[in-house]
Amino acid sequence: KNISIIGVPMDLGQTRRGVDMGPSAIRYAGIVERLEQINLEIEDLGDIEIGSRERTAGESNLKNLKAVAEASETLSSRVDEVVKQGKFPLVLGGDHSIAIGTIAGLAKNYSNMGVIWYDAHGDLNTGETSPSGNIHGMPLAVSLGLGDPALTGIGGTGTKLKPENIVIIGARSLDEGEKVLIKEKGIKVFTMHEIDRMGMTAVMEETIAYLKDRTDGVHLSLDLDGLDPHDAPGVGTPVMGGISYRESHLAMEMLEEANILTSAEFVEVNPILDERNKTASVAVALMGSLFGEKLL
Ligand code: ARG
Ligand code: MN
Ligand code: MN
Ligand code: MN
Repeated sequence: KNISIIGVPMDLGQTRRGVDMGPSAIRYAGIVERLEQINLEIEDLGDIEIGSRERTAGESNLKNLKAVAEASETLSSRVDEVVKQGKFPLVLGGDHSIAIGTIAGLAKNYSNMGVIWYDAHGDLNTGETSPSGNIHGMPLAVSLGLGDPALTGIGGTGTKLKPENIVIIGARSLDEGEKVLIKEKGIKVFTMHEIDRMGMTAVMEETIAYLKDRTDGVHLSLDLDGLDPHDAPGVGTPVMGGISYRESHLAMEMLEEANILTSAEFVEVNPILDERNKTASVAVALMGSLFGEKLL
């Protein structure tokens, strides 16, 4: 596997500062060295350019809409290029709004893409349903073609994802509008309840079986807040009662064994809120498992 790392130092999709330093924190925690040890060809393409925060509210209730849209367009092209070179895009965030650009770029190459959304949240809000106006709570809705045209039009018009190709894992904080959308669209969700009840092994077996035949590529969008805040404290919107470090390693190992992933992104690492770069280190360890690191 040839992996190309793209850093996206974006913090404009939410209001807490520091998540723009996520890519640096993950590099500092040794991502390149770690993956090189697994005998992978790995190149770091550096960071994409991000615009600045709006000082005053724009016309839209979506915060920093213009700058987020511009960065997403850039990211979409970068991801598209990497896929067209036959390489595996590994995108490092940045807040979760970056998934808009990642998925738009991937969608130029896959007509039936699957997405695993590993997250405490659904990120299925639109401008109408969002309690915060924070775009990091909207990327999955945008990829379904819902929300502001400045976002849904990134990487060209048309929906990027089909609702039946999405699996959400780890949900425990959903807004009312998101719950309605999940039911309306029939999106598959493994909440913390199912993870507790079935165990992560069965959850991943079902996820893999579900996506394997119906998709032509699978993207993993992993929000570190999907993990329990004990294990990943450096995130802007922590929710207690999350997925453990061990369960997460198991999930990554099962994805690696199934060999279904064609791209991945790790988002919401905020070193300012972190404890001695723990969350970035967790992200690096999980990427190790995701790309086939073995103890023996
Ligand atoms: N649902 C909340 C909102 O819209 C929180 C979203 C958190 N998203 C995230 N990627 N951490 O604003
Ligand atoms: Mn989240
Ligand atoms: Mn998220
Ligand atoms: Mn604990």
